[in-house]
Amino acid sequence: MGDIQQRIHELRGILKGHNYRYYVLDAPQISDAEYDQLLRELVDLEQKLGEPIPDDSPTQTVGYKPDTAFSSRKHAVPMLSLANAFSDTEISDFVRRHKELLGDNTNLTYIAEPKVDGLAINIYYEFGQMVYAATRGDGISGEDVTDNIRSVSGIPWRLTGQVPAQLEVRGEVYMSKASFLALNQKQEAAGEKLFANPRNAAAGSLRQLDASITAERKLSFFAYAIGLGGDAFASSQSELLAKLSAQGFAIQETALLADEQAMFEHYQLWMKKRPSLDYEIDGMVFKVNDFKQQKLLGSVARSPRWAIAYKFPAEEVETVVEAITWQVGRTGVITPVANMKPVLVSGVMVSRATLHNIQELGRKDVRVGDRVVIRRAGDVIPEVVKSLSIGDPSRSQPTLVPKQCPVCYAAVEQEDGEAAIRCMGGLSCSAQLKERIKHFVSRDGFDIEGFGSKLSEALVDKGLIKTIADVFNLDYEVLSTWEGMGEKKITNLEQSIESRKHIVLSRFIYALGIRHVGQATAMSLAQHFRTIDAMQTASEEALLEINDVGKEVAASLMHFFAEEHNQQVLQKMFEYGVQVQAEQAVEIDSNHPLAGKTVVITGSFSNIKRNQAKILLQQLGAKVASAVSKNTDVLIAGEKAGSKLKKAEELGVRVVDETQLLAWLA
Ligand code: IVH
Repeated sequence: MGDIQQRIHELRGILKGHNYRYYVLDAPQISDAEYDQLLRELVDLEQKLGEPIPDDSPTQTVGYKPDTAFSSRKHAVPMLSLANAFSDTEISDFVRRHKELLGDNTNLTYIAEPKVDGLAINIYYEFGQMVYAATRGDGISGEDVTDNIRSVSGIPWRLTGQVPAQLEVRGEVYMSKASFLALNQKQEAAGEKLFANPRNAAAGSLRQLDASITAERKLSFFAYAIGLGGDAFASSQSELLAKLSAQGFAIQETALLADEQAMFEHYQLWMKKRPSLDYEIDGMVFKVNDFKQQKLLGSVARSPRWAIAYKFPAEEVETVVEAITWQVGRTGVITPVANMKPVLVSGVMVSRATLHNIQELGRKDVRVGDRVVIRRAGDVIPEVVKSLSIGDPSRSQPTLVPKQCPVCYAAVEQEDGEAAIRCMGGLSCSAQLKERIKHFVSRDGFDIEGFGSKLSEALVDKGLIKTIADVFNLDYEVLSTWEGMGEKKITNLEQSIESRKHIVLSRFIYALGIRHVGQATAMSLAQHFRTIDAMQTASEEALLEINDVGKEVAASLMHFFAEEHNQQVLQKMFEYGVQVQAEQAVEIDSNHPLAGKTVVITGSFSNIKRNQAKILLQQLGAKVASAVSKNTDVLIAGEKAGSKLKKAEELGVRVVDETQLLAWLA
């Protein structure tokens, strides 16, 4: 490539960047005159070269045109992932394999890098100019997120000096703990949904169609690997990181280690350091430092033999149990809850943790006043790991299992073979009723805007709601005498309730909150019966014909519709104007890659709930199974996928990730 071509390339990159700063960020860095000068130079050079000018050259565009939203980008070199280790023994095995493969006398040096908890990105540079950036995706290709990457700190837009003509730089985009807390505060103030952890927040922020939103979210980057162009660039990981750092990439603190003993110690050291870091890490990555040795070791399946992630256990924190209370759920299940002195666990304040059921409570033997260790399971739901006070003679007595519902005083029963105890008060129990109302009006149910938890509870407490049907028969005059219930609020509420009276069957069934009937089952039922009448009068045999419906579900449905009280409530609802619309048959596009395929979905996803995904997959004509077998066509694996992923890999079942899932659903 001649000098002119190279300069043209460079100018296009520079001008694109300035367009982005000007049009997207509203924060130009150079004067209009300077901009015009660069543009002039580009126009002249393009003319001089006399070759066809691509449409996306800044001489051909006005403003900043984003590349097609999240179009797919194939990585020049596939992006691998890392094998995990959870014990020192597994690290010893890792090192031993290297000795076996390379010879006992080989001089091996390992480099240790913290494992940042974010998402992997591939940034492609041509002649030192950033051309595009893409998410890891399935490792082969990912989503183009170039526009959004431009506002991430720690990533240079252009590289200087001697760099390979084509270079893929890889690393992790993450959100600092501070930015995460600030973002959630802002979300809360605006009544928007909160992010569960910095990783989800980073993923959600990077997948914004509006790049200026990503820019506000303050994401950062650490570089840790190279794809295309790597061989020419450096001969070891430590040299690579030094060179990337010199180019303006942010890199992490690393250390060179001679043997496994040093790795164990280093791992312990960082585990202690972890809480004081400004970003989340979930382990240490150990890599063979020398690239030649890396090549010799090669990779197995989708991860290299020369690297491993030694994962940290979930962060554990101590606190004190102040009370054990009993919570009554929508279906009457009574759950023990530990109320604790508030503490920060992995960046989140925790003061309550479920103890699941009475067996669990007994097994863990948690008592009021105990010092306990808590952690956030899957870093989301807080749980009590153990009590530190067991054996202490001065402890309090075990908490008694309630014989009566703590809310309505109805009898408590434990069904055969079930861990749960239940309040028998049914809908006369205000706790059950409150939860039922919340579920009924929730986003996946009737989706009534402005009908939050507080309102639901107050309406039950003040006797304005006695059954779910009463949602459509509110006494607005009484309501208007309540504090904080201004005219405008009442009108809005009335309007949103009114606007939701027409509802499709699947939502309606789900909103009723019938035991064992979740969203996916509600959808299968609706697709099968189409109308509420057919549904209500279905026989057990008819119910059992449906894919998703087993004996338990069928019995629960029969029971629900046979119950006189329920029939009256449904009748009332219809009288108040609720109209259940027949479910539209979903038209299955037989050309869709998933039509007729058997898929299994496991793990958690950042941008979609698993249940939601399940429904959408069904609508595409896929059969969603619960276990992986040799009949499975595809396993869709999210974060923290466990045994199902293992099984799929053993059976050679195709495994895809969230990016592919979203692409299929799009
Ligand atoms: S190296 C060939 N280094 O962990 C190996 N990955 O579980 C490619 N990660 O997809 C990855 N910190 O998202 C590497 N210092 C680090 C890392 C790191 C975080 C993530 C990355 C990767 C995942 C694999």
